[in-house]
Amino acid sequence: MSMTRKLLAVAATGAVLLSLAACSSDSGSTGGGDAAEGGTECNVGISMPTRSLERWINDGEQLQKALKDADCTVDLQYADNKTDQQISQIQNQIAGGAKILVIAAIDGEVLAPVLEEAKKQDATVIAYDRLINGTENVDYYATFDNYKVGQLQGEFIADQLDLAGGAGPFNLEPFAGSPDDNNAKFFFSGAWDVLLPYVEKGQLVVPSGKAPKSNDEWASIGIQGWASDKAQSEMDNRLSSFYSGDQKVDVVLSPNDSLAIGIIASLRSAGYAPGEDYPIISGQDADKANVKAILDGEQSMTVWKDTRTLGERVFTMIESIVAGEEVEVNDEETYDNGEKVVPSFLLDPEVVVKDDVQSKLVDSGFVKAGDVGL
Ligand code: BGC
Repeated sequence: MSMTRKLLAVAATGAVLLSLAACSSDSGSTGGGDAAEGGTECNVGISMPTRSLERWINDGEQLQKALKDADCTVDLQYADNKTDQQISQIQNQIAGGAKILVIAAIDGEVLAPVLEEAKKQDATVIAYDRLINGTENVDYYATFDNYKVGQLQGEFIADQLDLAGGAGPFNLEPFAGSPDDNNAKFFFSGAWDVLLPYVEKGQLVVPSGKAPKSNDEWASIGIQGWASDKAQSEMDNRLSSFYSGDQKVDVVLSPNDSLAIGIIASLRSAGYAPGEDYPIISGQDADKANVKAILDGEQSMTVWKDTRTLGERVFTMIESIVAGEEVEVNDEETYDNGEKVVPSFLLDPEVVVKDDVQSKLVDSGFVKAGDVGL
């Protein structure tokens, strides 16, 4: 059966997406677009890590809506940050006939066996945001440039402190993301390539001693599961064990917003309040609570990844797969998963500070003014 490409304008959260065709426009059927000649049936399983973080809820729901509007069959699952649950959800999607799997892995190292099953029914696998390692059976990777996320955090800190101008010494406490998340080492490397030279020169001092000597040691300061409460207790420990008298922390490298929330809570309970001596704190994601914290002066910046553009990119990839056309990528070098270099599409992240909240986040519809107290 041939597939008609309806170019419907699908208004999905402000973004206009090209709609995938429903094959049987004559029968008026919705759902379960059949395969184009040489293409694939539009039956998509989406596997997201957790509902506990705002971004993944948005990611999953936006893509699901766009695909449903395009008459695809879609199954969206969240795995409560539990690897076994994610594997069994993917198994169910395969059993349900999924021909395309979009997976944001909880643990990038453990999905090879389930992807082997996916390949037996010729499913195409797109790693979403996080790479899946150790398998031939991942076809594409769509993400933001993860190294650049960290680089933007490192450069922000260096600029704010005028490190290039020789200022210092400043007390720094660095954190890294979850050791099982392939992205976390890229975030850390991007930031540490900027900051480590200043640590070596003594312009940045790390009183806790938790300063990896090289990027490879990043997991030693990783926070499992990106958990806010674990970041909070780690920061509590550092402040109570390594800071005394009127010694103050000047800057915290936080790789994302969920860690920043815990770090802010810890600082607050140690008596820090926004004002002149308040530390610089980085973040990533532009979660609502953190945008509020930025407006309140409790967080200095976040690296914004407009997840709507990631959803659009994956939608475009699916559109090509369904039509049997070549999938557009823009990076075929960076993401080696141990078995192959996975063809990737990397999107650009950008810094958001207090003055950008209205123009970048609110005006674009990413957050509602009322939700962040504007
Ligand atoms: C994502 C970040 C997110 C983190 C925690 C990473 O893989 O790229 O955007 O903050 O996971 O969920």
